[in-house]
Amino acid sequence: MVSHDTQGTRVLSGMRPTGRLHLGHYHGVLKNWVELQREHECFFFIADWHALTTAYDEREIIAENVWDMVIDWLACGVNPSLSHVFIQSRIIEHAELHLLLSMIAPLGWLERVPTYKDQIANLREKDLATYGFLGYPVLQSADILIYRAAAVPVGEDQVSHVELTRELARRFNYMFGREPGFEDKAEAAVRKMGKRNARDYRALRKRYQEQGDSEALESGRALLAGQQNLTLGDRERLLGYLEGGGRTVLPEPEALLTPAPRMPGLDGRKMSKSYGNAISLREEPDEVSQKIRTMPTDPARVRRTDPGEPTKCPVWEFHRLYSDEGTQEWVLEGCRSAGIGCLECKAPVIDAVQAELEPIRARAREWQEDPEAVRRVVADGCGEARTVARQTMKEVRAVMGLDYR
Ligand code: TRP
Ligand code: SF4
Repeated sequence: MVSHDTQGTRVLSGMRPTGRLHLGHYHGVLKNWVELQREHECFFFIADWHALTTAYDEREIIAENVWDMVIDWLACGVNPSLSHVFIQSRIIEHAELHLLLSMIAPLGWLERVPTYKDQIANLREKDLATYGFLGYPVLQSADILIYRAAAVPVGEDQVSHVELTRELARRFNYMFGREPGFEDKAEAAVRKMGKRNARDYRALRKRYQEQGDSEALESGRALLAGQQNLTLGDRERLLGYLEGGGRTVLPEPEALLTPAPRMPGLDGRKMSKSYGNAISLREEPDEVSQKIRTMPTDPARVRRTDPGEPTKCPVWEFHRLYSDEGTQEWVLEGCRSAGIGCLECKAPVIDAVQAELEPIRARAREWQEDPEAVRRVVADGCGEARTVARQTMKEVRAVMGLDYR
């Protein structure tokens, strides 16, 4: 699922500390992280500052949510000897890069991020007309760029933030990544290609840089590859000029869209704590059974003798995730012919969820009983993160002219 050109490269992702995680997080995010850590250097962090952008007045809950979340990650298989687990606010350099990026972040870009208007509309009871909230994706960009991460596993709702990160990186490299005289040298090289090629190159470069058109970028690269009479130096210059920078100080990350199917909630909508349709990862076995037993089913099946239609039933979504083909056949046939009852139908789902949660619950308990060990994992992760972040900031300060004496 991870494309080959990102193999072995650095991966970074974060979550806001929203408290205990549920099965949706497990299937949608954590299983993927656990997979990624086998082939990549991974940085996973708790975005506690990001939590403040919408919950700035809920300071009591932060600490508990942070530690609960770390424990849930570990319980799901995030392995501290493979991955660096850390807390955003402990790496103060994120704040510095956020500030510096904010200098070159056009307001229009931020106002156009889809989550910005959506969230303001959705959380009407909260005053989100704040500077921090508008800057949410700038802070996220800093989180990513400071580790020079190549890949960022995220859900669909975060893709626009990674896209903004790419645009900010491009803008940063364009402004601060160029050698003295770079532009003149590049322009001279453009002229060496001859009239027609020069005109095509300029048009493609413009389309890519002004509209982010990635096809134009590809065509531009192909055009350069076909030039016989360019020196290697000129070719590299023209590539950098095409992409919008000289040296890449902050590489553009790629969003790795989480491949897992969307975890259905108990009521058929997406699983979410705020819908009250979630099964948390540390839910006790009795509660798990109880929740699934009382799940709504196809409303057409009022009586046991009424036939039903699985595709109209949230339980079926669970079968699709958890059951083998034989069981699925049994459900389809038994439901449509009223051959099985709903409780009967739910039994294999209950078993499957219990079997999945059992080891997670057990590992969570172990970590819970050893809070010192949890603190150590995070302290180590912070140490690793800080080393990388400091190195990046040294270079960022230098190219921005801030390393003067
Ligand atoms: N905005 C992300 C979310 O709500 C959390 C986040 C913050 C993040 N910084 C990040 C995710 C950097 C990936 C990379 O889920
Ligand atoms: Fe849903 Fe199963 Fe009942 Fe059919 S038999 S309505 S699929 S719970």
